[in-house]
Amino acid sequence: PLARSFSMTSLSGVLPQWDEEDLPVDDLLLFEVAWEVTNKVGGIYTVIQTKAKITVDEWGENYFMMGPYYEHNFQTQVEACEAPLPAIRGAMDALISNGCQVFFGRWLIEGSPYVLLFDVGGASGNLDRWKGDLWDSCNIGLPSQDHEAGDALILGSLLTDRLGDAPNVIAHFHEWQAGAGLILSRARKIPMATVFTTHATLLGRYLCAGNVDFYNNLGKFDIDREAGERQIYHRYCLERAAVHCAHVFTTVSQITAVEAQHILQRKPDVITPNGLNVKKFSAMHEFQNMHCSSKARIQEFVRGHFYGHLDFNLEKTLYFFIAGRYEFSNKGADLFLEALSRLNYLLRVHKEDVTVVVFFIMPAKTNNFNVESLKGQAIRKQLWDTAQGMKEKFGKRLYEALLKGEIPEMNNILDRDDFSVMKRAIYATQRHTLPPVTTHNMLDDATDPILANVRRIGLFNARSDRVKIVFHPEFLSSTSPLLPMDYEEFVRGCNLGVFPSYYEPWGYTPGECTVMGIPSVTTNLSGFGCFMEEHVSDPAAYGIYVVDRRFRSAHESCSQLTQFMFGFCQQSRRQRIIQRNRTERLSDLLDWRFLGRFYVHARLLALSRASMLQFYSTASSPPAPPLQAEGFRYPRPYSVPPSPSASLHSTPHHSDAEDDDDEDEPYDEDEEAERDRMNIKTPFVLGGVPGVLLLSVD
Ligand code: UDP
Ligand code: G6P
Ligand code: GLC
Repeated sequence: PLARSFSMTSLSGVLPQWDEEDLPVDDLLLFEVAWEVTNKVGGIYTVIQTKAKITVDEWGENYFMMGPYYEHNFQTQVEACEAPLPAIRGAMDALISNGCQVFFGRWLIEGSPYVLLFDVGGASGNLDRWKGDLWDSCNIGLPSQDHEAGDALILGSLLTDRLGDAPNVIAHFHEWQAGAGLILSRARKIPMATVFTTHATLLGRYLCAGNVDFYNNLGKFDIDREAGERQIYHRYCLERAAVHCAHVFTTVSQITAVEAQHILQRKPDVITPNGLNVKKFSAMHEFQNMHCSSKARIQEFVRGHFYGHLDFNLEKTLYFFIAGRYEFSNKGADLFLEALSRLNYLLRVHKEDVTVVVFFIMPAKTNNFNVESLKGQAIRKQLWDTAQGMKEKFGKRLYEALLKGEIPEMNNILDRDDFSVMKRAIYATQRHTLPPVTTHNMLDDATDPILANVRRIGLFNARSDRVKIVFHPEFLSSTSPLLPMDYEEFVRGCNLGVFPSYYEPWGYTPGECTVMGIPSVTTNLSGFGCFMEEHVSDPAAYGIYVVDRRFRSAHESCSQLTQFMFGFCQQSRRQRIIQRNRTERLSDLLDWRFLGRFYVHARLLALSRASMLQFYSTASSPPAPPLQAEGFRYPRPYSVPPSPSASLHSTPHHSDAEDDDDEDEPYDEDEEAERDRMNIKTPFVLGGVPGVLLLSVD
């Protein structure tokens, strides 16, 4: 009765798809384990959170996410409830009776998946015993000073302690922190089909941060020694063991697959590119309106932050940003700062009237907001209140005069006291310091790499600088007293995201920009950048600028980045609007509705390798080889001239593309969009058989 037929029919005729009645059998469960379940650290959280919807659509009540319990996360993101399955309830009861805390509920995100969270800290009394178990099962020893590795082991041990009793499980583990659970479940011969996805290699990240020429030496590193020298040998062993224990090993991009082959010594079976939950608005240009309103909020912040120095035209000011975990060189902040220094020079010598305000959103150790930044916002607020007060008075007196049938003398309508109030408000905007580069009190001010480089290049927000810097060393939040916007809203209000990463297995940040219709800079060393180069002809025309960091020297990459940014600054508003339309058109390519199928395939392959395919299928043949999205390219936008040199700076060319800043209409891009839509097809190749899947499915 468990068997269901697995059909190879699909939308395109070549993709494995579940038929309606082929949804997973009732007692086949999917566990997905990651340290970032309900726990935001970086991009893995985004993977787990955005993918939930399509996974719940497929697995329904049989899908369980698992991760560490943190009280604050649980209270703010999870609705507690009773576990629906006896097997899970039994496992939880057993753990609780052994003194461990486990929590169950629905994660309040799209899809409302079940989450099972383990109190790692509360179970730490067992750590020594579990370290012994790990050693006995695979000879990996964890040093006592590495608490992160210890926590990973506790999570894995809690997980495998009882949940192995659950029947028919596919368990999908993400990243080395979840790897211990996989190693232990295999060592204990728990009958599960396992998938391990790595979102980076530990050693790769370390080596790159240490300024080595990583990609030209991939095959030459003495990996054991390198891991040992960096004191991560035990973590590297956990990661490598997990990779080799898994029935199916996947990673997020081709570039990380090559890296994994060298550093982890296993070729990934499937590449599972990262998607997003793409939302389409019923009005096509709604995202343009959202850009406009979010930008207005950023402008408000800028008015406060630069008070007394607002001698630049906000209508001609562009907002660039970089955001992510603070890995200075891996995220390309070094290259970005150098290029900004050059951009500042170019804008000055070409006497451009454009000003660029650049935000660095990278969390560092701080001691709250600094007084100068808070004061800026307070002064802006005071000016606003003064203006509102005057407006009311002015309006009232004007009204009174009109009632009497008079037109008042405009110069006398406000009295001397009113002028005094206004003058005092203006005097308050005097400052003897430059607008601050950072918004917070930094704990490591002297050694902080962004600040050190800002000092070196001398970008201190002087009046003469055309490039201004605002370093916000904390992730954004709508409850901030300084810049009260959440990250998505902030991105929508910016003009360009700049992510010139050196080490970036995928890189969500430019992808998130894309689906919001905001152009961005990425590199051919990031999984996302390579994916876009593969699937889009002339990505720059679509507002995806790919810096070549692979085949050029750092100096050349920096020049290229500078040119991209300078070219962007020279576009008219109308050209930027057209470009945003094009950027947004690439969203379908990044939608989980399409990219989710690579996960489906990985799970299926795992079932087959674990000899559990009978839970799905009566067919004895294993699933076809991994899927690839090959050969497909978004065509160059209709209105871009065919010569690549003509679109070098990705400027959306238009017959009379003069600077016409009053012309805000998104104009006839619709027609271009329509034409492109007709042409946009992506072939997914399965086992060498090409098939065509239309991407636009509206
Ligand atoms: N992010 C955020 N708030 C911020 C800045 C960034 O939530 O203020 C998120 C962003 O949305 C993205 C993630 O951090 O999903 C970074 O992921 P990415 O894959 O770019 O890099 P990672 O940190 O995983 O290396
Ligand atoms: C959107 C809005 C326009 C606005 C423009 C600003 O397209 O619909 O009304 O003028 O954004 O664009 P910019 O590139 O100058 O931020
Ligand atoms: C890792 C990588 C990042 C990727 C994310 C999600 O944190 O650094 O490039 O986007 O995982 O896969």
